[in-house]
Amino acid sequence: MNVTRERASTVLAGNWLGASTVPSRSLYPHQWSWDSAFIAFGLRHLSPERARRELLTLFSAQWADGRVPHIVFDPDTPAEAYFPGPSFWHAGRTSGLVQPPVHARAALAVHEAEPDHAFLAALYPQLVAWHDHLRTHRDAGGRGLVAIVHPWESGMDNSPVWDRSLERVPPATGFVRRDLEHGAPGDRPSDDDYGRYVRLAAEYRDSGYRDIGRFAVEDPGFNALLADAELALAEIAEELGLPSAGHREAAARVEKALQETLWDDAAGFFFARDVHTGSLTREYTCAGLLPLVLPGLAVAPALLATATGPRFRLGRVHGVPSYDLTAPGFDPGRYWRGPSWFNVGWLVRQGLLRHGEHVLAARLRDDLVETASRTGFAEYVDPLTGAGHGTRSFSWTAALTVDLLSERT
Ligand code: SER
Repeated sequence: MNVTRERASTVLAGNWLGASTVPSRSLYPHQWSWDSAFIAFGLRHLSPERARRELLTLFSAQWADGRVPHIVFDPDTPAEAYFPGPSFWHAGRTSGLVQPPVHARAALAVHEAEPDHAFLAALYPQLVAWHDHLRTHRDAGGRGLVAIVHPWESGMDNSPVWDRSLERVPPATGFVRRDLEHGAPGDRPSDDDYGRYVRLAAEYRDSGYRDIGRFAVEDPGFNALLADAELALAEIAEELGLPSAGHREAAARVEKALQETLWDDAAGFFFARDVHTGSLTREYTCAGLLPLVLPGLAVAPALLATATGPRFRLGRVHGVPSYDLTAPGFDPGRYWRGPSWFNVGWLVRQGLLRHGEHVLAARLRDDLVETASRTGFAEYVDPLTGAGHGTRSFSWTAALTVDLLSERT
């Protein structure tokens, strides 16, 4: 076995709890929703059984209303290991927020690695309910796009794109950050941001996880991944001999809404939209590149031009920078305000392949594998130097490396 693949496999074995994988033993000692989907993409090559278990465990915590919670807490992990833990959320063994819907694509990929109709048949209705939940409960803007109600829901917590919308949220105080016990403060969100996250989460909790509160944003990344997930669901339905046209129509509706509402032709970019003010937040972040995963995206050439231009320098830096390299606020080490993350690199590479950009895709793949291996599977890296930041032995970095290596051989 390839040495890097062997090391990645050891990371994943070390982070395996028996029915799911923690993103990191120290920083994130429970199960996270979109992490598990990315982890499954790698596990399918090492153990399809574990990959299936990973997704089934997550969906065993799905709420009756269809939502898939962003964290499923491990009962054996001490309460002081992570904040905000179960006692904060008042939601049994889960949180009440969500994360981007990458699960249908993961389920299909796991099935492709080792066909298992029973697995697909079990998950299909749950995936349908999950997507229905988003459409029914989160179209706050009334334009056919999902609004997130908390930055954590984007998976890109402290992205500069939320700054303006967070100004109306006074930071909460009187809690203890556990993340700083495991991560360098300069690599993590600021105290002010954390206070706002806690305030917003508490307000949503106190509404019974129902109200669209002070923060409601249509994120191009989240919505592009939902459209892609509907396309995956169409393929799953076809595998199961079920009608698939409805899923393709749902994907097309989201794609159309993305283009009509969030695309700025002059900028050549997808921006997020604050539902309360109705205005686009003109920050160039990696979320605006994610619509590239959609094979039919009409504006793909213009978006590719932005991706390879000075703001992201795709193919000439390490991975895909989370924030505009030319922005005054670009910070190469601070979480989602500059560093390159492996899941985003992996998704953008999928997009490049879907738009015939094979040379750039190969360059990105080689860089991702080299950088992951050299940094001990870092959580994120400085796009300019390739230096590792955040925690190490990070599960999705290891898993997606395995996936990239499997494609190469
Ligand atoms: N990503 C958040 C954290 O850092 C929660 O989902 O804890």
